[in-house]
Amino acid sequence: MLTINGQFPGPTIYARKGDLVIVDVINRAGHNITIHWHGVKMPRYPWTDGPEFVTQCPISPGTRFRQRVVLSDEEGTLWWHAHSEWSRASVYGALIILPERNQPYPFPKPHAEVPILLGEWWNSDVQEVMEEFLATGGDPNISDAFLINGQPGDLYPCSRQDTYRLTVEFGRTYLIRMVNAVMNNIMFFRIANHNITVVGSDAAYTKQFSSDYITISPGQTIDFLLVANQPPSHYYMASRVYASAGNFDNTTTTGILQYAGNYTIPSSPPLPTFPAFNDTSSSVNFTTRLRSLANAKYPIDVPLNVTDILFFTLSINTRPCPLNASCDGPRDERFLASVNNVTMVLPRTDILQAYYRNISGVYQNDFPDNPPFPFNYTQFFVPIDLWRPQDGTAVNILDYNATVELVFQGTNTVAGVDHPMHLHGYSFYVVGSGLGNFNNVTDPPRYNLVDPPLMETIAVPVNGWTAIRFQANNPGVWFLHCHFERHVSWGMGMVFIVKNGNGPNATMLPPPPDMPRC
Ligand code: C2O
Ligand code: CU
Repeated sequence: MLTINGQFPGPTIYARKGDLVIVDVINRAGHNITIHWHGVKMPRYPWTDGPEFVTQCPISPGTRFRQRVVLSDEEGTLWWHAHSEWSRASVYGALIILPERNQPYPFPKPHAEVPILLGEWWNSDVQEVMEEFLATGGDPNISDAFLINGQPGDLYPCSRQDTYRLTVEFGRTYLIRMVNAVMNNIMFFRIANHNITVVGSDAAYTKQFSSDYITISPGQTIDFLLVANQPPSHYYMASRVYASAGNFDNTTTTGILQYAGNYTIPSSPPLPTFPAFNDTSSSVNFTTRLRSLANAKYPIDVPLNVTDILFFTLSINTRPCPLNASCDGPRDERFLASVNNVTMVLPRTDILQAYYRNISGVYQNDFPDNPPFPFNYTQFFVPIDLWRPQDGTAVNILDYNATVELVFQGTNTVAGVDHPMHLHGYSFYVVGSGLGNFNNVTDPPRYNLVDPPLMETIAVPVNGWTAIRFQANNPGVWFLHCHFERHVSWGMGMVFIVKNGNGPNATMLPPPPDMPRC
């Protein structure tokens, strides 16, 4: 497997708010790589953001690239991961951004802080899994296990001795920094007998709320406080998939929460119970409880006057199988995915370079603000032929400082599924969401403009919609995509180009001298 510094998960990077982190990426593998700083806005500096063929060419075997990771207002937990084909399966780690020196958290100082990264394990080479999946156009092989901090846990007898263990002292409070680095699933997480208190998500603090489970999308982070207030013993922590992508048994990964001290260790502590696989309301209910602090010290600044209203449909599609191939999708076709009916095709030269150097023929400026025609997006059995996507490498251009409202509408073409949508270069306010079709008359008056959460990855619920707002104040080239690896490989992505404004602080910075070449 591909690893960074021989570690899996990769090293945790600790920084403080406002720091500049410099990372030298040296590729000693036989495989292209890029590294993305997930959730870092990289103000005016998309050059080292990382998505291959969007902001850079891959770092080829034997070469290196110095990446400047420019932290600005992020504070909390983020992460870094490979952004080249499916290599993020094993190339990821936490990026923990502490408050500025001598600044407190908006909650009592915890006794200790613990990163918990959810991931996946394949018994085969992930590159081969991806290639087979792309060749057949069907659903990918499912991984062989989910992981907590790199370990499948003791439901897998051969992994039992390496099960992740968190030792706590009775009466103490711990800050858990959780990252979902899973490839294709939203996850539930729960610690038996313990409630937790959520305090942040996606490197922004939230109002505190108590819960006995967590829903976390791929890409998302959740910070929560765990108080060791139960009778000293061993308790399971476990994570299980929501909305599984196939029929398989490897749905659950476990770790152990063990209290320090002397007591009789239970031979088999009870596993926490989980919401059902298809329990969309449990998934959505957790996420809609996330709220910004929105107070004097942590004010919000939601755009109130919107200049650009965008409506993006997220669809799973199919297309006839290429001649002489055999396809695994429905009706022997192949799966594709699209945003506003455009299936994103990555170019051979990165879009950022083409934009900066005026190279024509790499992308088109015509990514649509709306789907080509409206239909009943979420009805059951949308005729597949109603909607065949077009291939494209299309960008949507935003003026500097445009105030954008973007509504994601999930559709039921072929199949309705959740889509954890992630925007590079920005955080956005999640101002509304609902099930069914978005109604542009009755839904906007119900938006939360008072304390909406500030996120960079948001799960658009199955057959539902989510509305976000952001101000386009970060000039550059920024990828927007579903954080399910199978969906982005099928083309569920698009690119925003945010133009330069007037003055040096509104202008993109020049590239570093060692940009990788295609
Ligand atoms: Cu976490 Cu474009 O990725
Ligand atoms: Cu998706």
